[in-house]
Amino acid sequence: MGTTCLLRLLIMSTGFSVLQQVRSWGITVPKTVTAVEGSCVVVPCKTKTHVWATWYQYAKFSYPKVYDRFLPSVEQQYRGRTSVLGSAAEGNCTLLIRNIKREDNNLEVYVWIDPDSPATQKYYDQTVRIYVERQSPIITIQEQIVEGDIFQANCSIIHSCPLSPPSLKWTRSQFMENSTLMEINKQVQLLWMYTETLHGLATYKLHNSTMRCSALFSDLTLESQQVTLNILYKPVTVMLTLKKESVIDGDNVIMECAANSNPSPHTYKWFSRQMGQNTIINTTDGKLLFENITQKTSFSCVAYNDIGEGQSDWVDLDVQFAPTILPESSCHLRGEFLKCVCQAEAFPDASIQWAIDGNDSLSSSVSLVSKNYKHIVSGELSGQAQSQANVTCTATNSLGKHTKQLYLNKMPTQSSFSIWLGALLLVGIALLFGSAAVIYRNRHRSPPGSVCNTAILLRPLSVSENMQGELRYNNPQSLSTQVEDTQSNSCRAGSDSEGDEPSCIYDNDVVEELRRSRAQQNNTTAP
Ligand SMILES: *[C@@H]1O[C@H](CO)[C@@H](O)[C@H](O)[C@H]1NC(C)=O
Ligand SMILES: *[C@@H]1O[C@H](CO)[C@@H](O)[C@H](O)[C@H]1NC(C)=O
Ligand SMILES: *[C@@H]1O[C@H](CO)[C@@H](O)[C@H](O)[C@H]1NC(C)=O
Ligand SMILES: *[C@@H]1O[C@H](CO)[C@@H](O)[C@H](O)[C@H]1NC(C)=O
Ligand SMILES: *[C@@H]1O[C@H](CO)[C@@H](O)[C@H](O)[C@H]1NC(C)=O
Ligand SMILES: *[C@@H]1O[C@H](CO)[C@@H](O)[C@H](O)[C@H]1NC(C)=O
Repeated sequence: MGTTCLLRLLIMSTGFSVLQQVRSWGITVPKTVTAVEGSCVVVPCKTKTHVWATWYQYAKFSYPKVYDRFLPSVEQQYRGRTSVLGSAAEGNCTLLIRNIKREDNNLEVYVWIDPDSPATQKYYDQTVRIYVERQSPIITIQEQIVEGDIFQANCSIIHSCPLSPPSLKWTRSQFMENSTLMEINKQVQLLWMYTETLHGLATYKLHNSTMRCSALFSDLTLESQQVTLNILYKPVTVMLTLKKESVIDGDNVIMECAANSNPSPHTYKWFSRQMGQNTIINTTDGKLLFENITQKTSFSCVAYNDIGEGQSDWVDLDVQFAPTILPESSCHLRGEFLKCVCQAEAFPDASIQWAIDGNDSLSSSVSLVSKNYKHIVSGELSGQAQSQANVTCTATNSLGKHTKQLYLNKMPTQSSFSIWLGALLLVGIALLFGSAAVIYRNRHRSPPGSVCNTAILLRPLSVSENMQGELRYNNPQSLSTQVEDTQSNSCRAGSDSEGDEPSCIYDNDVVEELRRSRAQQNNTTAP
């Protein structure tokens, strides 16, 4: 003990160089080593071939062990954290200290080679001082990123452990898809730098999102600063909003065009469509006043920035307006039965009142109200009325009212109407059967000039084109006689030539029909 102290004093006073030359057994260690908190540190040590080495902490009056083969003899704060690397046979006495702590700063260590051997060497004159520094990961991103670009973000951590860098953890936006990583670990001066490079696709959703990274040492986690992504993108989601709750016909409105873009739009193009008239306004204002708004007004805007442009949806203003009774409104009077429909366009929806000859307490009449289209209300009235009745419809909403006398369509009574309908129906049936027969005949063609054919061809207008040539067999003047002949001959001719009885039957029906209508025609056209 005493001799050691004396020796140490001697070393201090005389200096390293002198003593080192005195030594027979040399050693190579650095004077200082920089360690990074949380990381490991390697203290290189080279000497002659030996069996084993023990490392001590330099202390004035004691010999605290930093590393020993016999673990319990190692100081508590170093136990399990230290080891000697390399092969003793090759003279390698390198010390490794893991999980460097802040308290390890300024630690001074020296090696003791082969402590059991008579040739033991204590190198407390060759101490290595360990400086501990804290290094946080550093995150860097490109300053300007344009949407669509593949951008880079680097996270670097300086460490002192050549054996293993810390792992890095990225905290980033969920919108960062398909990113790829690249890793490099390189020596910078006496330390190491481990870098991960993240490549990501820039999307507008990433704008203003934050990123950070953390270095995970075994006992310590260190966070980087937070960076905010600045991504330039053209206007997306351009929104046009009305700065008013409700708009009344003739109002002035302020429209605001808000675009999600970076940078903000520098110009806007406004589209307005009022009563079918289109207007385009170019301005730098995102807010615009529109005067005298009428019904059926729509707006849209386009926002421009340096990256591109974006257009809003068309916004249809729901302008409130007083009722108008539509021209479709009218009445039908059949005998004394009145039926009226009144359609009114208004917003808010109109209510409909009826009056007959100024009497608006129409208790016996039924009035239905239904809604057909947006802002169009339809009212229905039915009841008894005189043919001279003055029927008025009044549509009212909060903005006004509109009264209109409805036109009275006088209809024929039910009985005469049904006769007309019957007559029409008969003619219709006749035509239908006629054309059916023609088509049938066409398919089962009999030789031209056959009597059955001519019977059909008597109704020239419905005959198809390919039959037209056969018209010459007819004599329009003697229509009735022809018909007579046809009837008598056709069945024979038809059945004889083709055995086609059903066609004859149809023909006969048609002929009957024709004859009847001819007779009717003769009656009506007769002077
Ligand atoms: C000593 O051993 C360590 C660990 O195996 C190695 O990295 C280092 O290069 C060796 N030193 C010499 C001088 O051989
Ligand atoms: C990231 O690191 C790579 C390689 O070290 C370098 O080329 C690139 O410029 C770095 N990018 C940023 C944004 O720092
Ligand atoms: C991301 O990956 C998906 C699926 O793997 C692929 O469809 C998409 O195109 C990729 N996007 C980019 C920008 O690479
Ligand atoms: C408002 O517009 C209507 C229809 O376009 C027009 O008749 C009216 O004169 C306008 N009023 C004002 C104050 O401009
Ligand atoms: C019908 O009645 C309305 C009021 O109910 C009245 O204003 C209008 O003059 C009348 N029309 C006729 C032709 O009498
Ligand atoms: C109006 O008509 C109702 C029945 O439709 C009738 O009871 C009432 O007396 C009439 N009022 C007037 C003033 O004519």
